[in-house]
Amino acid sequence: MRVSVIGCGYLGAVHAASLAQLGHTVTGVDVDSEKIAHLGAADPPFYEPGFADLLRSSLASGRLRFSTDYADAASCDVHFICVGTPQADGSRAADLAFIRASVAALIRVLEGQTRRTVVVGKSTVPVGTARSIAADLALTSPNTVLVWNPEFLREGLAVKDTLEPDRIVYGLEDGERGQFGARTLDQIYSQALGRNTPKIETDYETAELVKVSANSFLALKISFINAVSRVCDATGASVTDLSSALGLDERIGPKFLRAGLGFGGGCLPKDLRAFSVRAAQLGAAGLAELLDQVDRINLDQRDHIVELTAAAAGPDLAGQRIAVLGVAFKPGTDDLRDSPALAVAAKLAQRGAVIAVYDPAAGPNLPAAIPNLPLTVAATPADAVKGATAVLVLTEWPEFSNLDPTELGPLVARPIVIDGRNTLDPALWRQSGWEYHGVGVR
Ligand code: UGA
Repeated sequence: MRVSVIGCGYLGAVHAASLAQLGHTVTGVDVDSEKIAHLGAADPPFYEPGFADLLRSSLASGRLRFSTDYADAASCDVHFICVGTPQADGSRAADLAFIRASVAALIRVLEGQTRRTVVVGKSTVPVGTARSIAADLALTSPNTVLVWNPEFLREGLAVKDTLEPDRIVYGLEDGERGQFGARTLDQIYSQALGRNTPKIETDYETAELVKVSANSFLALKISFINAVSRVCDATGASVTDLSSALGLDERIGPKFLRAGLGFGGGCLPKDLRAFSVRAAQLGAAGLAELLDQVDRINLDQRDHIVELTAAAAGPDLAGQRIAVLGVAFKPGTDDLRDSPALAVAAKLAQRGAVIAVYDPAAGPNLPAAIPNLPLTVAATPADAVKGATAVLVLTEWPEFSNLDPTELGPLVARPIVIDGRNTLDPALWRQSGWEYHGVGVR
């Protein structure tokens, strides 16, 4: 099919290249000309494992092109909206400006078209947004059908999640038009559906809520285990063993029960907050309070790690050299959006600590992300820890669990390690003469 993908960030760019890979003819559209130039030259503007190869082969197939001009999408049968919905400035609600702008631009392209086209919303939006977009489209482009089709891809696994989704959800309007939208999307996703990927057809509101509920539930699991980790600290229990035992109950499951510095990134925090705001608007005060508490517990983990550092390295952090290993919001990405690790580094720097950061992917992005913070970006873990009075592991990149504490010991001023992700082997580090502190573990 001929499709356009409006918005070429993590979601849109991977979606566009994946659809081309699946045999569709794709035009990726974004207002950011620099991003479009990079994508068109097969040079990914962000780090995502497997994406560079996918982009290269999709461009080489001749089925993928990129443009800053919506008019280039005019001949497409299906238009995917993949623009960002970040947290609004000065508010906890979602900022829908990019959605509004993209729909307005799309309407100008679709206006007056006589054949049926399908607009597919993939961005994460507050419940009620799809119905209002459908009303706007109906005014000017009555032949256009809107489907809400949330995306569940994880950064770091975006290519796999896009090509092999674990579920497909369609939010549809009632009747024949909705069915037309559903059958059109079935053609787009024919390979995944052919593998019996579960599909749920529902209304707009449910489809919108599935997405924010999924992210909020993941956030809830993480904050639950982090809150429990404090009780483990107070009693000498091990949150790691506790998580393993909890995870064996298949009603609970083992995933998203890793205690540590908490969640961050461009999705979980802002979706949780936007859902809380929307729930409160809709009179669901209990849900809003629950989500707010999840957020508070999460943010509190960042202060907890700073206090743990101050308690171990001496209360006055001014002038102390502190090494931060890992600054991306999670391993497998160079994304620094709402990174818990970066927040801790910033808090330590505000208390006068001299910070050296090492991250296998996100290092080069640091100066732009925090232009005013005096951080040094180190080329290796060994460079980062030189002369440090504390070493903090804040993102669980696999290479950190393989660090040799006996090699790093002679480089530091004091052998204190704060394992903010419970990713190191405490016994190994202690045997090598280090003072080890984890989260909810002895
Ligand atoms: C998240 C969801 O997992 C995706 O399903 C969703 O599609 C995506 O948001 C989105 O809305 O676009 P992502 O932001 O890539 O994906 O990150 P996650 O893998 O969910 O991790 C989020 C955060 O939770 C990370 O900071 C991670 O370190 C933290 N985390 C995760 C924990 O602290 N403990 C855990 O046990 C698991």
